[in-house]
Amino acid sequence: MKTTISKIKSMKGKDKIAMLTAYDYSAAKYMDSEGIDIILVGDSIGMVVLGYENTLSVTMEDMLRHTGAVARGAKNALIVGDMPANSYNDKKTALSNAEAFIKSGADTVKIENKPEIAKFIVDNKIEVMGHIGLTPQTCTNFKVQGKDQETADKLIKLAKELEEAGCYSIVLECVPMQLAKKITESISIPTIGIGAGPYCDGQVLVVNDMLGIYDGFSPKFLKKYAELGNEMKTAFKNYINDVKEEKFPEDRHSFH
Ligand code: KIV
Repeated sequence: MKTTISKIKSMKGKDKIAMLTAYDYSAAKYMDSEGIDIILVGDSIGMVVLGYENTLSVTMEDMLRHTGAVARGAKNALIVGDMPANSYNDKKTALSNAEAFIKSGADTVKIENKPEIAKFIVDNKIEVMGHIGLTPQTCTNFKVQGKDQETADKLIKLAKELEEAGCYSIVLECVPMQLAKKITESISIPTIGIGAGPYCDGQVLVVNDMLGIYDGFSPKFLKKYAELGNEMKTAFKNYINDVKEEKFPEDRHSFH
């Protein structure tokens, strides 16, 4: 059954929300069949799929193509399109880009910070997931955020503003677990953590990181559930050797 926004909201304090990123049809189909609640077509695609240094070069065109692929693969999960840098600088642009995500198959969009933009999109009938803490599109200090009282208070205030703006959930990225707990307890919508400890209402990881197929980044918060990178290397090596040594194709792989 298709996961709805009201289902996600109702999970707060009861069932933990499992969210992963995906960028293609096959991965989306596999995680959907195993019961993932939310699939984020993240702008992390910039690094883990497109090979950029950060998320800033990712375009709407990139995001829409991959959102379509994920939507064709996942029939049950809630699909969230991550609005890329500069796609929501003003209200009008934000709304027309959010609409483009929905046309491509996303159920909702995600934006970093900016409660006033979130409110405008929500007022125009598109659901928005917020994202605070370490927000890669504008961050200049890629470290744990909200470690002192002043920045912690700012993040609590921002979370409340996003809730008031109508967001249905908020990603908390790289904040101390005590602060994530405080934010989670201060708002009535679910928090979904990445590097934010166990007290959030849900968790998200970047799929390539958790499968071990991206070696550019290995933060403390990452748990690798597989080492597919090593398996891929072995498979590629074996294939290359087989071709060179004329062991592939065999008779059973050939047409008669
Ligand atoms: O783009 C992404 O993958 C994200 C997650 C880290 C939440 O925004």
